[in-house]
Parts: sequence; C-alpha cells; structure tokens
Amino acid sequence: MDRPYIFCHMMTSLDGKIMGNFMEMPESGPAGDAFYQIAFGKEPKYQHQGWLSGRVTTDDNFTMYRKPVLEEHAPQVPEGDFVAEKAPMYYVSIDPSGRLGWEKNSLAYIDTTAHVLEVLTGQASNAYKAFLRKLGISYIIAGKETLDYDEALMKLKHLFGIETLMLGGGGVLNWSFIQAGMCDEISVVIAPCADGSTKTQTLFQTKEGLSTDEPVGFTLKSADVLTGDAVWLRYLVKSAGKKEK
Ligand SMILES: NC(=O)c1ccc[n+]([C@@H]2O[C@H](COP(=O)([O-])OP(=O)(O)OC[C@H]3O[C@@H](n4cnc5c(N)ncnc54)[C@H](OP(=O)(O)O)[C@@H]3O)[C@@H](O)[C@H]2O)c1
Repeated sequence: MDRPYIFCHMMTSLDGKIMGNFMEMPESGPAGDAFYQIAFGKEPKYQHQGWLSGRVTTDDNFTMYRKPVLEEHAPQVPEGDFVAEKAPMYYVSIDPSGRLGWEKNSLAYIDTTAHVLEVLTGQASNAYKAFLRKLGISYIIAGKETLDYDEALMKLKHLFGIETLMLGGGGVLNWSFIQAGMCDEISVVIAPCADGSTKTQTLFQTKEGLSTDEPVGFTLKSADVLTGDAVWLRYLVKSAGKKEK
C-alpha cells in the first residue's frame, strides 16, 4: 500500500479513557511523561515525521474552538493542494469541512514544534482555503464529500515525505482509521488510575457516518512495565494494510 506506516499512540486510564478527571491524579504523571518520551523524547521509540489529530482534538488543544477569520469575497484560490513549506515534523489535522480557527502555521507541543498541515475535503470553502494560504498553512484535499483515506495518505507521503505517521487521537479518528485498514500498530500507555466517567471519550469510538462497531482483532507485539506502575502495550492490527516494520 502506497502510504506511510501508521502507529496509533495514546495514553489512557485503566478504564480506557483518553481525557477526564483521571489526568489530575498524581498516578497519571509518569504515564504522561512516558507517553511523550516514547514518541517525541530525546530517544524516541518511533521515528515519525508527523502526527495526525481529529478536528475535536485540535479544537480542544490548539485552536480552542475559535472561528476562522474568513474573507467572504476572497479571490478564487488555485485548484488542488497547497504545499506552504517542507518541515521535519508536521501536525496533520483532519478537518474535512474547514472549521479550525488557526492563527499561525506552526505549533509547539512541549518541546516539539510542527508545521500545521490541514487535510480537507471538497466540503471546505474557497474562503477557508484562502485563509490557510494567507497564514502559510499547507493543505491537501482528499475526497469530495467524505475523506478519501488512500488519497490523503498517498499525498502525505509523496508531497511531504511522511514515511511514518502517528495516529494521535481522539477516539473517533483512531477508530475510523483502524476500521479503514489504515493503522498498522497500536501503542498505548496505561496510567494506573480511573475515573469511571461515562461522559469522556475512550481510546476508540464509533461515529455515525465514519465508522461502525464491526470488531477488529490485534496481535500482541510487546508489553512493558514502566515506572509509576504504568504499562506500555503494543499490538499489531490484524486488518491493517500489511505494511509492518
Ligand atoms: N489521551 C490521549 O492520548 C489523547 C490524545 C488525543 C486526543 N485526546 C482527547 O480526545 C478528545 C477528542 O476525541 P474525539 O474522539 O471526540 O474527537 P477527534 O477524533 O479528535 O475528532 C473527531 C472529528 O475529527 C474529524 N474526523 C475524524 N476522523 C475522520 C474521518 N475518518 N473522516 C472525516 N473526518 C474525520 C471529524 O470532524 P468534523 O466534526 O469537523 O467533521 C470528527 O467529528 C479531546 O478531548 C482530546 O484532548 C486524548
């Protein structure tokens, strides 16, 4: 398959949550540190050139639900994709209809900086694309009404040189990629705490129109005990496009 190798890397509570009160517990600290070190630290276990996030994750962490500042009568932008710059690390944001209110074309996550790269569909307006161009934010268009996974991943590989891509949540994004056969490996750091909430997102979640509850199997690759009673589990996805490292 002509796409990057994709690993889904997440931190969860013992009850499989990816956000919520458990994150305030001292027990989640070492797991959070390990999560960062494994993917972004000085000696990372994965050598990736970008991480992929769902629109809600980006709004929660970086764009804070701001509305994009659009010019209603923006001049028509050229058709197709926009490569603003090549970078060693990309923050790849799945934003099918162009909703995210970016203010600049890079972001900082702890001590990692990344160029913002938006994945749009034909649903995104000319005004939104003009807004991204003005900010120097790269974008690709993949699919007319819904995301075309093959096209998106092929463009990430060939236009931006992304050979290994981290699938970084949330649960909706993760599950849609796994079900589409677009995730090769799961890497999950589990913190030794829980909050039992039924209101917070879990590691994998269906969303109508994007995914179903058709189950998927996994093969254990490794299981490590980390400091602070955290564990790091790695699984290969049985239904993936068979592009194992
Ligand atoms: N613990 C961790 O390691 C971790 C990591 C990442 C995120 N999180 C948390 O997870 C929470 C958000 O998770 P979530 O599951 O609610 O949302 P999400 O996956 O971040 O975003 C879902 C949205 O992304 C777009 N999207 C995702 N997959 C798509 C696909 N296959 N095709 C087209 N569009 C797609 C859609 O956007 P539209 O609605 O615009 O169509 C969809 O509604 C945040 O609170 C975040 O902080 C935790």
